[in-house]
Amino acid sequence: MGHTLGAVELREMVRTAIAYGKTRSIPLAPSVMTIPASNYVDPWRFEVEVERIFKRLPLMLAPSAEIPRPGDYKAMEVAGVPVLITRGQDGVVRTFLNACSHRGANLTTEPTGNAKRFVCPYHGWTFDQQGALRGVASAEEFGEVDKDCYSLRTLPTTERSGLIWVVLDRNSTVDFDTFLSGYDALLERFGFKDWHFQSSRVIKGPNWKVAYDGYLDYYHIPVLHRETFGPDMLNQAIYSAFGPHQRVQFPLREYSELEATPEDAWTDETLLSGVWTIFPHISIASFGGGGRGVMISQLLPGATVGESLTTQMYLMQTPPEGPEIKAAEEQFAFLRRVVEDEDYTTGLALQKALKAGALDKVTFGRNESGAQRFHGWVDKVIATDDADLNALFAG
Ligand code: FES
Repeated sequence: MGHTLGAVELREMVRTAIAYGKTRSIPLAPSVMTIPASNYVDPWRFEVEVERIFKRLPLMLAPSAEIPRPGDYKAMEVAGVPVLITRGQDGVVRTFLNACSHRGANLTTEPTGNAKRFVCPYHGWTFDQQGALRGVASAEEFGEVDKDCYSLRTLPTTERSGLIWVVLDRNSTVDFDTFLSGYDALLERFGFKDWHFQSSRVIKGPNWKVAYDGYLDYYHIPVLHRETFGPDMLNQAIYSAFGPHQRVQFPLREYSELEATPEDAWTDETLLSGVWTIFPHISIASFGGGGRGVMISQLLPGATVGESLTTQMYLMQTPPEGPEIKAAEEQFAFLRRVVEDEDYTTGLALQKALKAGALDKVTFGRNESGAQRFHGWVDKVIATDDADLNALFAG
């Protein structure tokens, strides 16, 4: 079933990339766009973005493959909020605030693990995978408490297409389907729920939007990445938008072979090529080498406006074996180097320049319609009240 979902749209996007490849052109935004440079350096603006974007919208916090077995969990801090994502014995993923209902201690500080129960490391209260309080240490001396009132606090969570989305606002009424705008049906084609979580790394970067601009940007590829993977690549991108989410493709220069192949024989590599971004903070990039894999980059705002943290997660369609392991790890090390030494080194320096007041505005060309659309969505979400968010994403 997963392999038919979205097939029509995926083929249509390949046809579009073929058409633009033939004419060596790309669709252009109507005009050049500027935004205030202060959007990247103003601490007040940063607080607003964290509160109104990261704390209100569904965030893709983990691929299913990171917690595949019953009892698996992942603990992380997201925009200052401690969360605990668990997979119960029933296979259902639930997310809790990682705070014991006694006095608020983190229930675990291990980033990932497997547990039937969580025993609070402070005084030893015990919670099950559904978040219910099961045991109070020295209960008789502690005194009477109504256990039903001491469950862990649950956050809205959905698992689909092998990815797990969580909303940090436990009272949120944002509808996952409306927010995802059908994009999850396209991502389903990857089949991530059966993939293998190989490894992950964390990289420090500049303001989260400086970093995210880079994932949407093919304009820089042959220039900034001239020493690594870029010299033979185009600086052109085609963006396909599904609500606020955007898939990025190159125009296909090598189209003749594809045109000679029946469309239903087009491979997943063709249908899923390029970068898949998930608003507001995820990029999924396909690559080969050592078996079929993707790098999922998860950007989170850091402690201040000039900082972000990116977790690079490497998923492989099948677990690498023998010499494939070395090849895969070399590929990951290469991708880390490219992002850290080229993209983020550039981003950190431009962040400094913007902080120093070097520019009043930053500019996105007609060929950078992906970033234009992204910043448009950032502004729209910030300006929208809670009650109107679903209407915003419904278009
Ligand atoms: Fe958890 Fe006291 S804070 S048992």
